Amino acid sequence: MIEAFKKRRTQYALGKNLPLPPKEIDALIRETVRLAPSSFNSQSSRAVILFGAESVKFWNIVKEALRPIVPAADFPNTDKKIDSFAAGAGTVLFFEDEAVVRDLQEKFPLYAANFPGFSMQSGGMAQFAVWTALANIGVGASLQHYNPLIDAEVAKAWNLPTSWKLMAQMPFGSNEAPLAAKTFVPDETRFRSFA
Ligand SMILES: Cc1cc2nc3c(=O)[nH]c(=O)nc-3n(C[C@H](O)[C@H](O)[C@H](O)COP(=O)(O)O)c2cc1C
Repeated sequence: MIEAFKKRRTQYALGKNLPLPPKEIDALIRETVRLAPSSFNSQSSRAVILFGAESVKFWNIVKEALRPIVPAADFPNTDKKIDSFAAGAGTVLFFEDEAVVRDLQEKFPLYAANFPGFSMQSGGMAQFAVWTALANIGVGASLQHYNPLIDAEVAKAWNLPTSWKLMAQMPFGSNEAPLAAKTFVPDETRFRSFA
């Protein structure tokens, strides 16, 4: 298990070669999201899994949303960055279903204030689990956040329910460059154990 965690890194240099057919990657992502824990077992996380041209279409939406707001002199860098995400084999869009959160708030008023936070935490667990599952089969990925800038366009492009709130985007693909070693803050700042 620790070996899989070690393999999960932020990979920006993505290519189109996958070790498994898209159908199997799709099934792996679905199973991973299914198995991720959620508060009250609410299963509020949603995933839209885009391969090939559908993923490129997504990154074009991001690019066109950024074009009017990024200074023209900076846009070539933005353009290059977005192209590097589009160069991958696919992208997972992670959402949280706000209808599920509202329903929980009505059913359990005592915890009402906690549910939005629980939903975000549940989503983060699903994202981490998918990232690790992909890494475990040799697929590189990173975690991006172009929401909320692109939310309306994305909902329109894939005809998604209005209650699905976009939380993160995970471009994935073959690892096309080695990664620098991961650095860590000193343990003393992070951990306190008592026995
Ligand atoms: C909640 C969260 C948000 C993140 N947002 C971004 C992001 O918007 N863009 C990005 O390139 N990386 C993002 N990252 C990735 C982190 O920068 C990365 O995980 C961290 O630097 C450690 O590197 P590693 O993933 O190689 O272990 C995010 C990670 C987390 C957990």
